[in-house]
Amino acid sequence: MAITLERGMLHPNVSAGVLDHWTDRLKLAKQTILAGTGRGADFLGWLDPDKLAPKETLKALGDTAKKLRDTVDILVVVGIGGSYLGAKAGIEALATPENKARVLFAGQNISASYHSELLASLKNKRFALNVISKSGTTTEPAIAYRLLRALLIEQVGEEKAKELTVVTTDPENGALRSRAKQEGLTSFTIPGNVGGRFSVLTPVGLLPMAFAGIDIEAVVKGATDQAEALRNPDNQATCLAYAACRNALYSQGWGVETLAFFEPRLASLAEWWKQLFGESEGKDKCGLLPTSLLMTTDLHSLGQYVQDGKRQLFETFLWVDDMGVELQVPQSSDDRDGLSYLAGRSLAEINKQAWRGTQLAHREGGVPIMTLRIEKFNAHALGELFYFFESTCAISGTLLGVNPFDQPAVEGYKRNMFALLGKPGFEEEGERVRSRLEKYS
Ligand code: PA5
Repeated sequence: MAITLERGMLHPNVSAGVLDHWTDRLKLAKQTILAGTGRGADFLGWLDPDKLAPKETLKALGDTAKKLRDTVDILVVVGIGGSYLGAKAGIEALATPENKARVLFAGQNISASYHSELLASLKNKRFALNVISKSGTTTEPAIAYRLLRALLIEQVGEEKAKELTVVTTDPENGALRSRAKQEGLTSFTIPGNVGGRFSVLTPVGLLPMAFAGIDIEAVVKGATDQAEALRNPDNQATCLAYAACRNALYSQGWGVETLAFFEPRLASLAEWWKQLFGESEGKDKCGLLPTSLLMTTDLHSLGQYVQDGKRQLFETFLWVDDMGVELQVPQSSDDRDGLSYLAGRSLAEINKQAWRGTQLAHREGGVPIMTLRIEKFNAHALGELFYFFESTCAISGTLLGVNPFDQPAVEGYKRNMFALLGKPGFEEEGERVRSRLEKYS
């Protein structure tokens, strides 16, 4: 197993006995998930990554990605939430700089400045669209698709624009599916039993990653290996141990979990992680608040707070021993910067000692700490991580008593926005929303 959990720095907050207690409870939650008898049991498709992305699907995704790469310079991924965060996480973590520059994102906000800059950057460029929405009706990507479709048609004409549009959506329902059918667009499906934030190992995440040159077979293999470990009754699955630590701390009143990492390439993975846990556990007035810190960058902003502010957060370090890149501090005859003692030493080693120093300082400042450690970062490890966090989240949320697979509260802002915008069907609600707003003015 490539992901290990170090929990020595939970001491003195969490004892071995407490962890055993939580592990026993989580084993039951795991059985509930595997047996499909818990809340949200209709959304367990993610449990079997090899079934989600069998060989034929991987081939079709690889073929489509290659065709797009041969035809265009840029792929614009249009989606929001679970329909873009996983792809962005994978591409940022693993793609080469040239390939990263070939994937742009749209529809993850409604900003005029963001989208006008994007449209301007695509002017006279060869680009294609991957429009991703399970429901097919989400406002943000729908607006972006309209904008981008108009530009694409203007540049290449209606027929060619259809060839350059790939849709990833529900197998049967929704506006995108009906458009795909009507216009004969290339399409992939998000299985009905997989929710948005658990969909990274479906075409939602895999097609953009394949376009960015990532070995998606290795990603799926990593996830499949984790799935086997989870199902093996003799295996002390690391996700159970991680879930036990989080739940033990939560039960003691710690309200915030911070995922702290030392590689900027993992920043979007942390965004994906935040959505996964935030939308899955944050309901019924329960749940840890997931936050993240990019080290050592954030040590020079939030570091002071973590070290010495109100004690309410614990840190989960995501540490990678080998990112596969070597760089050394150069020799110099001029030691005015006082760095000669570091000359010839690798940045990886310096980063590691920064990590160890940070852990000790924060622990001594009263922060409970655990570390998820990965030996080597590659496509297989990425797949393992995706599955590892998904399974921890599902098991942890089940233990919490919430439905980890729905997100009813996300509708709150949408209903108000539709009412304020006068969407057909929301006319009467518009008046009510405006008068409720008045109360706060
Ligand atoms: O996790 C989820 O289900 C959500 O975050 C969705 O992914 C997000 O709201 C986008 O939905 P859709 O794919 O239907 O456009």
